[in-house]
This record gives sequence, C-alpha cells and structure tokens, in this order.
Amino acid sequence: MNLEILKSNVGDNYFCLIADDEGRAALIDPIDGEQAVNRVRRQNLELVYVINTHFHPDHVGGNPTVLQAFPEAVVVAGEGDAEAINAQFVPGGGRGVDEVLSQGDVVKVGELELKVLETPGHTPGHISLVHGHHLFSGDTIFVGGAGNCRFGGDAGVLFRTFRDVLRDLPPDTVFYPGHDYAIRNAEFLLSLEPEHPEAQSVLEEAKRARQAGRLMKTTLGRERAYNAFMRYDDEALREVLASEHGERLEEERQRSQSEEEAVFRCLRSLRNEW
Ligand SMILES: [Fe+2]
Repeated sequence: MNLEILKSNVGDNYFCLIADDEGRAALIDPIDGEQAVNRVRRQNLELVYVINTHFHPDHVGGNPTVLQAFPEAVVVAGEGDAEAINAQFVPGGGRGVDEVLSQGDVVKVGELELKVLETPGHTPGHISLVHGHHLFSGDTIFVGGAGNCRFGGDAGVLFRTFRDVLRDLPPDTVFYPGHDYAIRNAEFLLSLEPEHPEAQSVLEEAKRARQAGRLMKTTLGRERAYNAFMRYDDEALREVLASEHGERLEEERQRSQSEEEAVFRCLRSLRNEW
C-alpha cells in the first residue's frame, strides 16, 4: 500500500491518500479538497473511492471539490452516518453517499482491500478501516486519547468500541487519526499519573513530531500501555480516579453498566473540561 498522510490546510485535520501499485486510489476524509485533488493529479492516480469515516463537516467538507474533479469516484460511509452526510450536500444539489458500509464489508481499491469496522461512539455511524496492520481510525482513538462525544456521540457506545473492537486488534496495529491532539492528551494523562514513564516519553515525542510538522503515530499496543481510555480496567488508574475525582466517578457509575464503563466515562468527562 502506498500511503500519504496529509496535513490539511483547512482546520487542524489530517487525511489520507492510499493507492495500490497500479495507481488506483482512495481518499479518506479529504477535508482539504484542493490539496487532495492536487495530490491525486500530480501522481496521475485513478481515484476510485472517497471514504468518509463519519459525518462531521471537518471530515466531509472537501467532498464537493474532490467529486467535481473526479466525478467517477464513489463516496462511501457508514450506514449510521450516511443520512447526516447526505443532509449536508443533497438539498443543495450536491452528491451524498453512493454506497453505505457496514461491519465486515470490504472496500476494494484496486488490489488493496480495506476491511470495514463499525466504531461508533464519536458519532453513531463512525467507521474505521483496516488494511493489514494499518488502521484508519477517524476520530475514534487519538494518540493518548479518545474521540469526544459532544457532537452526536455517546461515551458508553465509544467505551464498547474500545473494549470490543480496538482492544481486539493486533498490538502492532498502527493507527492514523484525523487530528493531532497528542500533546494535550499526554499532558492530560500526566495530570492524572504524573510519574507514568510511557506518557512522559509520548509527550516528548509528540513535541518533536509537532516541531517537524508531522502526525505523531503510535501502535495500539503502545496505547494499551499508557492511554487511560485503553486502561479502563487498570486498577491503579481506577484508584487515582476514585481518590482524586470520586464524585465524578460515582456520577458516571449511575449511567454505566459496568465499573469499566464508569472509568471510561469519567475520563471522557474530565478530558472534556481539561
Ligand atoms: Fe469528528
């Protein structure tokens, strides 16, 4: 797989261009339509798909520019978010989602096969895509963090995505999130666990990556070691929350089906205000 991670000139997003060896390509969340079109043209690629991980405008906003340049490209998105994407374009005469995707579907970009994982929580119909050990995760997981649940999301649903989907993927899976929040996330984690060595080294790496203008990347295995949202069952972390944020944890217990969910929700709620 030929992969380019592109820093958008619109907002603080990153988006991806992938291609097989024959030049058949897909854009994932091409918010920066102009840059996306230039990249595809410059490499003489045949754009087969525009893939939207979820409906938020900072992920789908570049679709019209891309589709004007490459009208033959097929727009795909998760079943649960398709209507919200269509609502942004179809009433004005634009194109919405051509094909909806669900769990287990495979998007074929020439020789590349991308497996669809339903990863709801940030939005109801959020999808992620897996190719080998690469995970295109949209706004589900970030380096040191988790997607927010304030714009159509649900923290309990996101918890189940972390528990039932992300933690089942191989530890050497590298993920490509839609934003770089690594520094703020690491600082938040260190506010809970100031001595955590892995969070400290991620913070240093994130600062170097930011200076170099590139997206900080980690693996799911590494996230399991320090990202609090992946450690909802870690007793030491639970004790920190119980002693420092006992009231909040108790509130979240009332909404949760398990202690693990309460820990995850408590973290999400604290991070919202941090
Ligand atoms: Fe989003």
